Amino acid sequence: MSLENKKIVITGAASGIGAETAKTLKAQGAMVICVDRNEPKENVDLYIKADLGDPDSIAAAVEAVPNGIDALCNIAGLPPTKDRVDVLKVNFLGLRHLTELMIGKLNDNASIVNVASLAGFGWPQAGEQIKAFLVLKDFNAVEAFCDENGVGNEGGRSYFFSKEALIVWTMMNRWTWRDRGIRMNCVSPGPVETPILPDFLETLGERAKEDAKVMDRPGRPEDIAPVIAFMCSDGSGWIRGVNIPCDGGMNQHILCNMHGHV
Ligand code: NAI
Repeated sequence: MSLENKKIVITGAASGIGAETAKTLKAQGAMVICVDRNEPKENVDLYIKADLGDPDSIAAAVEAVPNGIDALCNIAGLPPTKDRVDVLKVNFLGLRHLTELMIGKLNDNASIVNVASLAGFGWPQAGEQIKAFLVLKDFNAVEAFCDENGVGNEGGRSYFFSKEALIVWTMMNRWTWRDRGIRMNCVSPGPVETPILPDFLETLGERAKEDAKVMDRPGRPEDIAPVIAFMCSDGSGWIRGVNIPCDGGMNQHILCNMHGHV
């Protein structure tokens, strides 16, 4: 599916999955605009510096984005070893703020693609916590929210929670911009060989070792980027509000084990 003449904004294109996605989008003919705190080395037509944990920086970045955008890929994220407040700000609050501000810059029939994670698998068990989090708009209130709702740094809980909230928010917005044909979906990678993979392994400890035993190999950015590119293309036009696992089968492995269909 070609992305010829599509203008695509991508966050996180300076490294890992985002960098590979920028390369794939460019190869398919797109014009790529990157929003990141670090400048990408290649595959970007326009770079806009921003801190996605800071609402003012996000607003300034959106100002700098041209009109007529065909897709927004929200890929930037912090790993579970980072401070819980920063993780929730960048992985969810900043992503949502950027997306909401970007709606006016999007063309009709645009696609929004959020990179969540296999780590968000447990969203059905976190219903009340997620509901409380989704109404929170003030970036300065994140620390108090974490204290009140037991979201700590331990075991990477803040990271898992940020991805659970992202999956739920994406589902809830399945029809929010339907009158303009704008759709939003998630792609959820399993462990992928990027600079933050060691952070995941450190946080997950024994569990990561167990997962590694059943996986044939870790993912690579090249496993994820083409899926994101397809979700930007017109061919994915009737897919709305879903979470697409892209994890070598881990999501289905966990589901089958949970429900006794081994
Ligand atoms: P990475 O560390 O290689 O790249 C992250 C990018 O986000 C970098 O370009 C960085 O500069 C940018 N970024 C981070 N904080 C920022 C901020 N405050 N403001 C602006 N830009 C910021 O990470 P990777 O592995 O490519 O991860 C990309 C996404 O994929 C993340 O959302 C991550 O949670 C998700 N993911 C990664 C997995 C993995 O195993 N690598 C597994 C599942 C999901």
